[in-house]
Amino acid sequence: MTGRSVRMTPAYVGERRPGRPVSSETQDSVWGIARANFPGPMSTSAEAVRDLFDRKSGRFSAGYDRGGVFAARPRMFVEALSEFRSPPAAILDFGCGTGHIAQALSQTGYRVSGCDVSAGMVAEGQHRFGDVTLTVLPAGGTRLPYADGTFEVAVASSVLEYVEDLSHVLGELARVLKTGGLFLATVPNLRHPRRWVEAASARALTWAPVNALAEAVPKVALHARYLRTSRNRFPAAGWAVTFAAAGFAVRSTRLAASPMLELFVLERR
Ligand SMILES: C[S@@+](CC[C@H](N)C(=O)[O-])C[C@H]1O[C@@H](n2cnc3c(N)ncnc32)[C@H](O)[C@@H]1O
Repeated sequence: MTGRSVRMTPAYVGERRPGRPVSSETQDSVWGIARANFPGPMSTSAEAVRDLFDRKSGRFSAGYDRGGVFAARPRMFVEALSEFRSPPAAILDFGCGTGHIAQALSQTGYRVSGCDVSAGMVAEGQHRFGDVTLTVLPAGGTRLPYADGTFEVAVASSVLEYVEDLSHVLGELARVLKTGGLFLATVPNLRHPRRWVEAASARALTWAPVNALAEAVPKVALHARYLRTSRNRFPAAGWAVTFAAAGFAVRSTRLAASPMLELFVLERR
């Protein structure tokens, strides 16, 4: 469906909830980059995440074409979810991007809402898919625009590694889920050799001369932005601790859609 307007909502802005014990700041990321110390021209704030995906939005959907790098994701989520919940459960696709996963879940019979900080990504999704509601969240907002216990399921496909205040956002996801609700999240699998290369590159970028060189080449500069913003890089045990602190119990983990990704199936306690 084309020509559909993108709905902006101010409702993500709200009072910050009290902090939770484990956060991306207090837990060691294997990236080892403290945001405040990073010397690059872009900060790794929520604004930087939005800027990165607004820039990527025009080309992102191509990854979902047949044989594309993201092509296996929608089916993976549909199959993984079908093990635990049948349609028409209400699902939030947090960080829905261009909406391909939301659309696949919707076509399976689930009632799906998506939200994302990137207006560019959401606009792409609204342009393609008309039967799911995709909402733009203001960067820096702190409250999801949904009432407590709205959803039976939340999914976050390759999103949590970008989130600035991870413990707070996980708390928000726990809030909008019903007790006993499921949360399916994919995160980078740090055992994959490509992730080792990414870690080495991210460390190299903390040296000003390397950073300056990267910024001089547009394609490399975009990859450098990705490395700076995709910063929550924890081993599986670290994710489990972080999820537990936000009120989620790990039901299972597995590699999913790509050997570079690990799927956590979590239950909101
Ligand atoms: C790698 S893309 C994945 C998009 C989609 N989930 C998929 O798998 O195709 C990451 C998405 O997360 C979104 N995102 C990152 N941080 C976010 C946050 N704090 N709140 C909402 N969306 C966020 C980005 O804007 C981007 O669209």
